[in-house]
Amino acid sequence: NQVLRLGVAGLGTVGASLLRLTQRHANELALRCGRPVVVTAVTARDRFRDRGVDLSTVTWHEDPMSLAQSPDIDVFVELMGGSDGPAADSVRAALDAKKHVVTANKALLAKHGGELARRAESNGVSLNFEAAAAGGIPIIKTLRESLAGNRVGRVYGILNGTCNYILTRMEREGIAFDACLAEAQRLGYAEADPTFDVDGFDTAHKLALLTAIAFGTEIDADSIYVEGIRSITTADIEAADELGYRIKLLGVATRTESGIEQRVHPTMVPKSSPIARVDGVTNAVAVEADFVGRLVLSGPGAGGDATASAVMSDIADLARGDVVGTFGRPAHTLQPYQQAVMRAH
Ligand code: NDP
Ligand code: HSE
Repeated sequence: NQVLRLGVAGLGTVGASLLRLTQRHANELALRCGRPVVVTAVTARDRFRDRGVDLSTVTWHEDPMSLAQSPDIDVFVELMGGSDGPAADSVRAALDAKKHVVTANKALLAKHGGELARRAESNGVSLNFEAAAAGGIPIIKTLRESLAGNRVGRVYGILNGTCNYILTRMEREGIAFDACLAEAQRLGYAEADPTFDVDGFDTAHKLALLTAIAFGTEIDADSIYVEGIRSITTADIEAADELGYRIKLLGVATRTESGIEQRVHPTMVPKSSPIARVDGVTNAVAVEADFVGRLVLSGPGAGGDATASAVMSDIADLARGDVVGTFGRPAHTLQPYQQAVMRAH
């Protein structure tokens, strides 16, 4: 069967893990996808950095644009990050060159997702992004495909591994915020600019994507009320504990009579709730919908290997020829976003 040829832009935490995954599981992937899936070309900034992966059989491209437009790839896998610049330019170029695109870049999609989905559709290719929300948890496919027969009322949860890791270590070990953040960066959980994590914007980007799928609305990350965890102290955590709560950074999107309410903020969660028991880099996402009822998915929310697993799930869909619109419906049918009147919380 014909090989599916991947061009990977970005060989950092996620990109290097993806290469390891494709190499280690090559035979199994070929069986499960019905054809070999092979990384044939890559790019990153520093050609000579040792990334702990074998690059001897891949073609190196000097820049993301040349990789995106290469006739030698079928899928452009964008793992560089950034809402604009090389990531946005190369994704547009790949779609226009009729390459499928897989990305883990929630900042890019939260800003340009609607436009990019329409561009993918008009070029007859797919734009997939399972890894862009909640790391290894298959929440995009769950909302987009498994729950297609439901009317969703609410989606909420812990969507940022870095913040949950920091809050957990502050609570369990009394370690200071800055030291916890430095460790999250060392482990590859944090964004290149960790203010996106700790100030809540990364959670907001992910929530905006979940909202678009769950409620069929245009993405509007700017209208989300956002508050991060920077001001949370160990004293706050102890006070919450005495009252029977744990502090979690939640993203919440709710369908209301006046529109969609989206918010991100530290929340006192009763200790008896499943969400309160989610520790470390683990994320948890709850969905409430009319036919299925309530379900909660939890798993690793960040880290190279878990995220590469999600990236590969999108690639496997492409290898098998499964085509689902980016947001689970034709992009032009996304409804204008209407922010609900905010309730007190
Ligand atoms: P890293 O910073 O570890 O890696 C980024 C990679 O992109 C590096 O290899 C870098 O090259 C390359 N790169 C950056 N700019 C350019 C450029 N202009 N041209 C060519 N290559 C470039 O990031 P992550 O792997 O952590 O994240 C990648 C994406 O995945 C981001 O969108 C992030 O939000 C998302 N993501 C990350 C998760 C995680 O747990 N880390 C989880 C889910 C999503 P070089 O190595 O040479 O510097
Ligand atoms: N920085 C992100 C997090 C990566 O900590 O959750 C996963 O999207």
